Amino acid sequence: SEKTIIAPSVLSADFSRLGGEVEAVCRAGADWIHLDVMDGHFVPNITFGPPVIKAIRNRTDKVFDCHLMIAPADPFLGAFADAGCDIITVHAEATTHLDRSLQAIRDLGKKAGVSLNPSTPESVIEYVLDRLDLILLMTVNPGFGGQAFIPSVVEKVRRVKSMIGNRPIHIEIDGGVTPETAPLVAAAGADVLVAGSAVFKGGSEEAYVRNIAAIRGA
Ligand code: DX5
Ligand code: ZN
Repeated sequence: SEKTIIAPSVLSADFSRLGGEVEAVCRAGADWIHLDVMDGHFVPNITFGPPVIKAIRNRTDKVFDCHLMIAPADPFLGAFADAGCDIITVHAEATTHLDRSLQAIRDLGKKAGVSLNPSTPESVIEYVLDRLDLILLMTVNPGFGGQAFIPSVVEKVRRVKSMIGNRPIHIEIDGGVTPETAPLVAAAGADVLVAGSAVFKGGSEEAYVRNIAAIRGA
């Protein structure tokens, strides 16, 4: 819908011209830029880290939404904050002391998020709600773009929406978001939609305009 935040994942962009891709997708209607950081340890893939994020930071003023799929995360939080991330999200499964990690992100002056894999129950965040700005619910197993949406997570979105009550916490969905799946999670309470392959398919700014409009209009 109009007020749904669309956060394209640059994981599906052309990395050889990443700065230009960020500019193009922002002109095409992106609200936030989603940055998938993978370590080859917590997830079976490796992407990029703080130097690359820092290099593209001056291409836009939009929110840099950093999704850390790394274990451990705590030693690197300062580097991601310095690189210019506005929201830093850690995985509940990758951090032993979730409360401490979230507090560390806020102490750096950044917004704090927690991400849950499809199989992780929402009960793990019950006692950290007051430290959270964003809950990222994975609708694929993290590691790769272009995977199929896992529909059982829609029920988890509903439960998380009811758990947070009137707290100002975003519910973000990541994985397999398309014009077909977007309405399911939006109706369940999600207000931020990450999309990689569904935004960057076509490979041109004109395609990004159409792709973002299709998700937003769905
Ligand atoms: C997966 C990443 C996602 C991914 C989404 O581990 O967290 O952000 O890029 O890609 P699509 O939208 O293609 O499923
Ligand atoms: Zn992501």
